[in-house]
Amino acid sequence: MKYKQIIISTIYETITQIGMSSLSKDEVGKKLEVPPKQVMGDYAFPCFVLAKELKKAPAQIAQELSFLINNEYIERVEVVGPYLNFFLEKQKAGNEVVMKVLNEKDNSGKLSIGNHKKVTIDLSSPNIAKPFSMGHLRSTVIGNSLANIMEKCGYTSIRINHLGDWGTQFGKLITAYKTWGDEDRVKQEPIKELLSLYIRFHEEVEHTPEFEDNGRSWFKRLEDGDKEALSLWKWFREESLNEFERIYNLMDIEFDSFNGEAFYNDKMDAVVKELETKSLLSESEGAMVFSLDEYDLPPCLIKKSDGATLYATRDLAAALYRKKEYNFSKALYVVGGEQSLHFKQVFHVLNKLGYEWSKDMHHIPFGMMLKDGKKMSTRKGKVVLLEEVLQEAIKLAAQNIELRNPNFDEKEAVAKMVGVGAVIFHDLKNYRLNDVEFSLKEMLTFEGETGPYVQYTHARACSILRKAKRKETSTDSIDAYKDEKAWTVISLLMKFEEVIKQAYDQFDPSQIAKYTIDLAQAFNKYYGSVRILEEDENQNARIQIVEAVTIVLKEGLRLLGIKAPEQM
Ligand code: ARG
Repeated sequence: MKYKQIIISTIYETITQIGMSSLSKDEVGKKLEVPPKQVMGDYAFPCFVLAKELKKAPAQIAQELSFLINNEYIERVEVVGPYLNFFLEKQKAGNEVVMKVLNEKDNSGKLSIGNHKKVTIDLSSPNIAKPFSMGHLRSTVIGNSLANIMEKCGYTSIRINHLGDWGTQFGKLITAYKTWGDEDRVKQEPIKELLSLYIRFHEEVEHTPEFEDNGRSWFKRLEDGDKEALSLWKWFREESLNEFERIYNLMDIEFDSFNGEAFYNDKMDAVVKELETKSLLSESEGAMVFSLDEYDLPPCLIKKSDGATLYATRDLAAALYRKKEYNFSKALYVVGGEQSLHFKQVFHVLNKLGYEWSKDMHHIPFGMMLKDGKKMSTRKGKVVLLEEVLQEAIKLAAQNIELRNPNFDEKEAVAKMVGVGAVIFHDLKNYRLNDVEFSLKEMLTFEGETGPYVQYTHARACSILRKAKRKETSTDSIDAYKDEKAWTVISLLMKFEEVIKQAYDQFDPSQIAKYTIDLAQAFNKYYGSVRILEEDENQNARIQIVEAVTIVLKEGLRLLGIKAPEQM
């Protein structure tokens, strides 16, 4: 951001000099553009915004300013009609940028906005005894990347997996297990078996309505702390969690907490009481609700007529608990767009309770994963088991690597990084609110805008460095930066920090994903047009560019939750 700031300050100082007073420095920054083509300069300033106050034609203002602009980082300015196009001093700026990356290494792009304050990130949060859905995958991948981005910006991230581990469905599941279940089968394939028991319950209840009552009474026993009910529940939870852990291990994602819905069983009374004391509840058909009429929203259900508590009540208790436990400065909930109303309601209730910090809570919604244009479903027969998807991606990646590099001895480990990386990248390169079309084939090609493409570019750059015999970092010959394709690479390196800041501001990892593609493409063009290792006076400078690119690509991928193998 340094160079952009320099341009802004220079423009600001110069226009003040010629009598412009109504434009602040911030406004200058907002007006500053990046020209559509690199040959037109690094930045452009449209002078029509000055015309009214200065009572002159924009083109004339541009002319006048061009003579006054003077800064050691600016090589020249060109006047094109009303535009002032700025060209950075390539040697000076380019050298600084590359050296900074080489010195800072994986700290490149780091910001200190967060000041070690805490951010809780509610992510993944699958439901026990149910398959891990594509929605949960998106939440996991987006949430993990946001947690990385927050850390990069100086926050301490706390990843919370708010498991769906409580509810009437567990009464039904226990009934089904007691009637048809088999311990070994559950142990072998817990989620598959538990899911089929649950489905069977729903089929059989059609002609044997007593099952419904059984289910209800088992859930009652569970809520009352009955030993048998509780131990079955615990066991289902553990077995399911073990299976989810396999997916998390494949993706190399760790959580700070697995406190799910059940964790708040003994923490909801306090919330309900607080709402009652503050006279915020009203009765509606026997249930206790929190009216949100003033916001034009349906009421938030706090307690059902039978006394059972609800999803929202648990989230209220969870928010209070998290504030007390972590004292978060931001709380993010990475959950699909279909729960927008729920989070709006929860945040409003907290606000009405007088918790000013409710303004620090953000629902981060995302679109659906589609297959052939239709929502991917986990219900009934159409189960997409995520683990199978990941394994398939790894297999395809292994075949790809085998073709390219048959004698490579780390094939297996790298295939895992590439397969999993491909799935993650495919998700994150899309703006999170957009729906994503699922295509294993597309996500695994080494060309186009894919994870493997970025990884492959990184590995290729690493292989040049292995061949290079650069002794020490040196700033001797830096003519290399004047090369047009080299400059494209450098101007991207320059923007890494800004891209991270944007991703942070908008809770949007896709900015970083797109950036890694841009950088990889620019690098490949550069690499294709020069001979990096040619023994001339610019050799060292070229190698330094390559090294800076490997650092930033690797760090960009890391922020997305993707590994960057050095060979593949
Ligand atoms: N288990 C829920 C589901 O699968 C997601 C939970 C999201 N987190 C939360 N605090 N409500 O839909």
